[in-house]
Amino acid sequence: MASTHDTAARAAEVLVASNRGPVSYEVREDGSLHAKRGGGGLVSGLSAIGPEAGALWVCSALSDGDREAVRRGVGEEGVRMLAVPADVHEDAYNGIANSVLWFVHHLLYQTPLEPAFDAEFRRQWASYEAYNRAFAEALAEDAADGAAVLVQDYHLCLVPGMLRELRPDLRIGHFSHTPWAPVDYFALLPADIREQLLRGMLGADRLGFLTRRWADAFTACCTEFAGGPGKTRIGVHGLGADADFLRERSHRPDVDERMAALRAEIGEGRKAIVRVDRTELSKNIVRGLLAYRQLLDDHPEWRERVVHVAFAYPSRQDLAVYRDYMAEVRRLSEEINDAYGTPGWTPVLLNLKDDFARSLAAYRLADVALVNPIRDGMNLVAKEVPVVSDEGCALVLSREAGAYWELREDAITVNPYDVLETARALHEGLTMKPEERAERTKRLSAAATALPPAQWFLDQLNALREIQPS
Ligand code: G6P
Repeated sequence: MASTHDTAARAAEVLVASNRGPVSYEVREDGSLHAKRGGGGLVSGLSAIGPEAGALWVCSALSDGDREAVRRGVGEEGVRMLAVPADVHEDAYNGIANSVLWFVHHLLYQTPLEPAFDAEFRRQWASYEAYNRAFAEALAEDAADGAAVLVQDYHLCLVPGMLRELRPDLRIGHFSHTPWAPVDYFALLPADIREQLLRGMLGADRLGFLTRRWADAFTACCTEFAGGPGKTRIGVHGLGADADFLRERSHRPDVDERMAALRAEIGEGRKAIVRVDRTELSKNIVRGLLAYRQLLDDHPEWRERVVHVAFAYPSRQDLAVYRDYMAEVRRLSEEINDAYGTPGWTPVLLNLKDDFARSLAAYRLADVALVNPIRDGMNLVAKEVPVVSDEGCALVLSREAGAYWELREDAITVNPYDVLETARALHEGLTMKPEERAERTKRLSAAATALPPAQWFLDQLNALREIQPS
């Protein structure tokens, strides 16, 4: 194990910066530190350039375990964790990133009461600035001459501008994994904050988005509030599913075991409408349940013959609105089960405990996958299900998911706010002929895997390196 900050790390040629890093630590009862590695597109992207590429991943300490690891000088090769003070991180991450920027980009405010940009907001904003500055300084310190830096997401919008000032020699990219707000919604933000966010982003040489729609929304905001995007280039990179990994992983024994258990829970001869989400406010799980209830009302013939398997994994539980949302998902599921359930049939199987193997099992057996977000940068579940599905699966897909643009032709598409339309789409999915389902799934799977994570990452890196330093 190398220290988090050795000399080799000081001359990194490729740097990635993100709030959440590829590893997290837990202090065990005996005082030892336990490291847990995460997955995702960036992890496989970085592994594609190989260990000799001189890459460094700069991330924030998120938990007490992480901060303890930094304090003890424990770390992994190629990762630098920043010991941002807990209160600063709390304000920046929960206060600004998750409660303001996430809300703005996903259109989540209940505007009669919120947002209210008050003194407390300004206090938190100062923490967001400090947290972004900590990243910019660390990157400036560790980047080799002319290195490529790939900054990730809404947590770090100010980093490109700050880093440009510290190190004009670097090639700086930023990628948004979320949607970008439309002009009128972005306009909710105070004028100086809007401008600071846009100027921060425009400090990059190149900005990446998941779809043309989000890229255009960003450009429109720049035109309206910052006199245009200037010299910054804008690219679209539609992250796809990792077919090789998914196919291999979904046929391991632990997945087979969970499939058998799930089949038993669903019951012989019944169809399954599956959804798998991190319970973010934008995922629209509640309207999904309402649509399912509507289906049982409109088509009583489905009673006892279908089960809604809903995996809603906890996310951002430090925020009260997220906890309340989770509680509403639970309450409505119980209400449906109480009203419609019979001794041999539980209409909704809700599970809140994150279990990747069980998610894959549900993907494999799903008859219908429900992906109905209010708004979503991409939504990888929509792309993973068709890849993993054993016998073909109908995909009910929100037109507001980034994945819509690549999958719309073979999905059954819905307005996420329209519960009746969603109920009809579920019925259509359940009654789709097996051959058609299989055909569509094949095409969905091809579209979903067009840009695997490693290529997605390399494309961005190459595009950035091709830009001549000005
Ligand atoms: C979602 C978004 C990403 C974001 C991530 C952060 O998956 O699509 O854009 O980076 O949430 O999640 P976290 O659990 O770190 O708040």
